[in-house]
Amino acid sequence: MCGIVAYIGPKEAYPILIKGLHRLEYRGYDSAGVALLNGNLRLYKAQGKVSELENLVSDKDISGNIGIAHTRWATHGEPNDINAHPHFSPSKKLAIIHNGIIENYSTLKSELINRGYVFDSNTDTEVLIHLIEDIQINENVNLVEAVQIALNQVIGAYAIVVISQDYPDMLIAAKKGSPLVIGIGEGEFLVASDATPIIDYTKNVVYLDDEEIAILNRNCELKIKTIKNKDKTPYVHKLEMQLNTLEKGGFEHFMLKEIYEQPRSIKDSMRGRLNAQKGIVSLGGIIDYEMKLINAKRIIIIACGTSWHAGLVGEYLFEDLTRIPVEVEYASEFRYRNPVIYEDDVVIAISQSGETADTLAAIELAKSKGATIIGICNVVGSSIARATHAGSYTHAGPEIGVASTKAFTAQVTILTLMALSIGSKKGTISTSKFYQLINEIENIPEKVEKTLKLSEKIKAIAYEFKDARNFLYLGRGYNFPVALEGALKLKEISYIHAEGYPAAEMKHGPIALIDNEMPVVVVATNKGTYEKVLSNIEEVRARKGKIIAIVTEGDVEVKKLADYVIEIPETQEMLVPILATIPLQLLSYYIAVMRGCNVDMPRNLAKSVTVE
Ligand code: G6P
Repeated sequence: MCGIVAYIGPKEAYPILIKGLHRLEYRGYDSAGVALLNGNLRLYKAQGKVSELENLVSDKDISGNIGIAHTRWATHGEPNDINAHPHFSPSKKLAIIHNGIIENYSTLKSELINRGYVFDSNTDTEVLIHLIEDIQINENVNLVEAVQIALNQVIGAYAIVVISQDYPDMLIAAKKGSPLVIGIGEGEFLVASDATPIIDYTKNVVYLDDEEIAILNRNCELKIKTIKNKDKTPYVHKLEMQLNTLEKGGFEHFMLKEIYEQPRSIKDSMRGRLNAQKGIVSLGGIIDYEMKLINAKRIIIIACGTSWHAGLVGEYLFEDLTRIPVEVEYASEFRYRNPVIYEDDVVIAISQSGETADTLAAIELAKSKGATIIGICNVVGSSIARATHAGSYTHAGPEIGVASTKAFTAQVTILTLMALSIGSKKGTISTSKFYQLINEIENIPEKVEKTLKLSEKIKAIAYEFKDARNFLYLGRGYNFPVALEGALKLKEISYIHAEGYPAAEMKHGPIALIDNEMPVVVVATNKGTYEKVLSNIEEVRARKGKIIAIVTEGDVEVKKLADYVIEIPETQEMLVPILATIPLQLLSYYIAVMRGCNVDMPRNLAKSVTVE
């Protein structure tokens, strides 16, 4: 949610800031702005994508080797030029960019209005910069102290960078709840919401912790203090991200590139963790906590969005392979409903970005009750990765497309390995089943590759249904989460209303929607419940619904009933979600492209949801 980038150093700041904003655009893209300092502080902002900002400044003075920039996902105030960041202080000597939500902004705003201040925007951010300047003047303190005092009054989440005309050699950054990374380059500093704008300049980064303030000076001094003025020692991490993973690499969209990366990303998520010949499954990151998992009375999986769907697959896997009861919770519900959590519960938190605010808060709640928290994150060094006791990175590589694809299949891969590792050590899985599964997991990347070859066929089906107004997705067992994920993917990027349902539940409601205009995607690869899924398909057919079926290669019965059939390679039932998801990703992608939608930046969505 919202992208922040700032620069101080010897170079011209604007090109660095704009390039950074493009990298961060996946976080929010309803407006963008930049503030540059070269004698006086200049501020340019525009509604729309970063390219609108570039058009706006084409005839403006963009000089300066210190600046801050922002791409927004609106929370307070509609997306327009005025509400875009940066925001000026009343004197226009200070400017701020902010990610997060100041929850007590209206109280602070009323106090400031009573003291005679006037506001241009509807944002909580403008309140904060007014407050900082008010403190600076009335309490006669320097800018760092004013920021500290102001942040002590703030309730909520923030990642901010402040620039001042009176301090042309300094930037101040601070964070609580929302992420902020500082890049330490050659005689320069960058600050950003994630490392993607920094990677071109340096691999040395410092992740700010909550309630920390960083003071970045032109003489290359980095000071970190808390908002209570306690000095902290910066801990420098080395980034492992590769620059080429942030480019489209010849694909029309990041989403398509990421769909096609899955044979590799799944392999990467297994690398060093699976040795089928030797019969070894071992996740180094959780080794010290394996006994907790083996002895757990219950596993609670918390996540949001697509990661929650991966969690549902995890429920089936863990119950099948480890016989530990599993609950899968929306993090946003879990955190607010006084859940029962025991010290011998193990919580598995799943998050691609590692920054989702609800998931982070749910982790803190479970931690405070003494539960063990295991993370499954994609972004290395992210807040969730740091907040958990232990965890496994998915190693899917940066996912830029807002709709999650390769992160999902990598999450499911990790969950499969985890359940297998725990199940084999617990003795809840037979040796023959264990070997069957680990041998087959090794084949999955190749089978994903084969599934991707179906793209032309899927494109043709997409063409038939691109104008549909509704879609129903059905699946049973392991394919139920696949149906949910297929429906989510379609609505996210094509704006077609889509619902995922357990196939047998269709008769309890959704069946009323079926007529000859309703496409129904049925994931019908099940072995155990094949006959039952066939009956569900018959029910749809009897009401003239159009059936698109995902079946196992060589299927005979479903083929007789379905209007369109997509055949995926045969695999173990527990591994089907990874393969069956691929055609659904492609179907959504092609439908969205044919409808002229912006698949990488769908309306109203953001990749990383760092607000509640
Ligand atoms: C947003 C994204 C989704 C993602 C969800 C959870 O809504 O658009 O693609 O599944 O957040 O994000 P996380 O980073 O925690 O997996």
